[in-house]
Amino acid sequence: MNTRKQLLIGLTLGRRQPRVSVKDRQITLEEEYASSIKEQIEIAQQAERAKLDFLFKADYVVAHPTFMKKSKGIATDPTLLFSIISQYTEKIGLVTTASTSFVPPYLLARQLQSLQWLSGGRAGWNVVTSIEGFENFSYEERPTSKIRYEKAVECTRVVKQLWTSYPHKVITGEYSESSIEVLNHKGSHFAVKGPLNVISHPKGTPPLFQAGASDEGRAFAAANADAIFAATPELSVAIELRADLRSRAVVIGRHVDEIRLLPGCYFFVGNTKEEAEEMHRQAHAHITMEQKYNAAEELLRVSLREFALTDVITEETLPPLDSTIRSRTHSELLYLYIEKNHPTVEEILSRTEVMHSAHWVVVGTAEEVAKEIIRWYEADAIDGIIAVPGGSDISLTLFLEQVIPKLAEQGLFRNEYTGSTLREHLGMDTQYKGEDK
Ligand SMILES: Cc1cc2nc3c(=O)[nH]c(=O)nc-3n(C[C@H](O)[C@H](O)[C@H](O)COP(=O)(O)O)c2cc1C
Repeated sequence: MNTRKQLLIGLTLGRRQPRVSVKDRQITLEEEYASSIKEQIEIAQQAERAKLDFLFKADYVVAHPTFMKKSKGIATDPTLLFSIISQYTEKIGLVTTASTSFVPPYLLARQLQSLQWLSGGRAGWNVVTSIEGFENFSYEERPTSKIRYEKAVECTRVVKQLWTSYPHKVITGEYSESSIEVLNHKGSHFAVKGPLNVISHPKGTPPLFQAGASDEGRAFAAANADAIFAATPELSVAIELRADLRSRAVVIGRHVDEIRLLPGCYFFVGNTKEEAEEMHRQAHAHITMEQKYNAAEELLRVSLREFALTDVITEETLPPLDSTIRSRTHSELLYLYIEKNHPTVEEILSRTEVMHSAHWVVVGTAEEVAKEIIRWYEADAIDGIIAVPGGSDISLTLFLEQVIPKLAEQGLFRNEYTGSTLREHLGMDTQYKGEDK
């Protein structure tokens, strides 16, 4: 019998490239929107047929030009989108993103608990502290990472308390009303009386995901997260991050396997290596040099324009990272690469940190992509992946219909669902913990 620990596999849900464009006046905006929702439901069902653990949706609450272009102007709230998807799927987990910097805990608890009920226990919460959008939420400037995480710690604690504050067993008559908990929480950032007006779910609370690997981010993840969506462009980065998070979790009394590292895996799968490479090339052909220089400057706080493309950059060229940096995780990754490799400007401008969110990029045939995922698994770098589709529909179909079965053949992924909640897929306990008082 094969006893290998299985991989956890999620898929980021996004839009396909529209086949007909509104600009050509062949369809109306409303038709385009309706078809984008239909497409995402179809992708969700396709992922469920492949028995994936969960769907994942990032979210930014700002009309940033890049995000607007990507979402074609309508970045539907992910929790609302998953509410619809929950009605067209049965088993797959639904991990939505919501920011502790912007949404107050009562509302967060209510929305996520509602999704938990709508989906029959399949909701998950990707807890973000956000790097964009503060101007839309009464902030004068982006708070430092330290303050954002302080708020995240308090917010998350309150959300978890609210989730169990009104036990469902009171409604069924198994518990007395004295089991209902008033929180009377008064902290540095929030005052919440409670209880929540959506009862606890019999299958337990939604698992917590987290993204952000600064020192504060790691401390938060080790204490709170069940899974981490990680930006790990290199194998060595993933090994270090996973080992560090696991040892931090143990120090604070958690079991080492309660923390699951799931790097973003940006994949381009082709019928041939050449087809995959061409998809990868085309996906980035539209990124101008200007955009690359801007992205690198934002990460490094130094303009690379003054250098020739062949000039070598070392750590001496870089200013120290300070607390006002946009995303410490992303900047630190690029700093690390420069320190280790002393690359040319041209090499820096083509890095994944500059071109696409610092994710691990995998390009090849289904065989090659499966092999690469297994290589990282065997190096103790990952507990699974959050797959980010790159390229055309072919790439996604090959990933779901060929890469996943190859992992299953090796005993590293399921052939059938054994549970129907996200907690079950993640191997978490599913017993309701609330007690009668
Ligand atoms: C892989 C990854 C994905 C993220 N996704 C989101 C997101 O969807 N929405 C958001 O507002 N912030 C997102 N963030 C930002 C983090 O929540 C966090 O604010 C940021 O990384 C700064 O934290 P740090 O100091 O730990 O790097 C993401 C960060 C990482 C590394």
